[in-house]
Amino acid sequence: MTIRTAAIAAGAVIALPAWSAGAAELNLICSADVVICERLVSEFEASHSDIGVNMVRLSSGEAYAKVRAEARNPQTDLWWGGTGDPHLQAAADGLTAEYESPMLPELRDWAVQQAEISGHRTVGVYSGALGWGYNTQIFEKKGLAKPACWADLLDPALKGEIQIADPNSSGTAYTTLATLVQIMGEDEAFDYLKKLDANISQYTKSGSAPVKAAARGEAGLGIVFMHDAVSQSVEGFPVKTIAPCEGTGYEVGSMSLIEGAVNPDEAKVFYDWVLGVDVQNVMPEAGSYQIPSNKEAVASEHSPDLSQIKLIDYDFAEYGSSERRKALLARWDSEIGGQASE
Ligand code: F6P
Repeated sequence: MTIRTAAIAAGAVIALPAWSAGAAELNLICSADVVICERLVSEFEASHSDIGVNMVRLSSGEAYAKVRAEARNPQTDLWWGGTGDPHLQAAADGLTAEYESPMLPELRDWAVQQAEISGHRTVGVYSGALGWGYNTQIFEKKGLAKPACWADLLDPALKGEIQIADPNSSGTAYTTLATLVQIMGEDEAFDYLKKLDANISQYTKSGSAPVKAAARGEAGLGIVFMHDAVSQSVEGFPVKTIAPCEGTGYEVGSMSLIEGAVNPDEAKVFYDWVLGVDVQNVMPEAGSYQIPSNKEAVASEHSPDLSQIKLIDYDFAEYGSSERRKALLARWDSEIGGQASE
């Protein structure tokens, strides 16, 4: 394995031995779980010995902020994973480049649609629905009612038991915010979030951190993508995964080439490779249970079955638009706030 750079969840970069002189480089932001990020890099480097990858793991909103901050002098070539909304915002802001991959005909409709609504500045790489995971042992021990609906999370008995991420840094939390707005209407959603705030012990930086905390008994429940809750139960933790009864939103995890990238050719090689069936079939081996975007890739038996979940008709164009995302985050900051931790 020739991974030159290891990424840790907080986004710090640790230098490892350099590749041979003259090797081509690819600067990658990865916005999914660090385990799949590292696995993709090692698989890519094993099959493309002429390209070395510098990878950093950042949550979706943090990745958008980095790409934006670097607009005049891009340090990133490719951004893989993370929720689609900030990828769409980056596309609208002209921060990402148009690219029509020859792999597009191999992709599911929702992945191609993500490309089409962005003028081919992004594309869908996986999908997954929002919900939560709770620690069954904690709920049993404390005699807490099992929450089946968004409304149940407001139960005063859950005070201090719930964690969710900060929607500024986390695409998971932004998807939650946009989902609640679409289910309830904006004012009602903010009323709901204010009441929910009474039960929140921590707003984390990363979207999956809340259910990792629940798995380890540091919280009762984490509002997360269902596949991240499933990862914990597959690992053996006492976590039950729930799809909210009122309906729920979902993500089209995305990938974008950066406008003005220093290594666009290497970025395209990775882009086409990662949309392939063999690579997408590796995801469950790294504990990632999203639905893959390649039509031939097989979803894991552990992946939540989206056809059995009451999904809302999530409006990606509207909630990924720069204007809407900025306005919702500004309102969240002023009315809910919260200090993000890891
Ligand atoms: O952990 C995997 C995952 O849930 C992806 O499906 C998703 O795109 C990403 O994490 C979102 O992470 P964050 O909320 O930290 O931006």
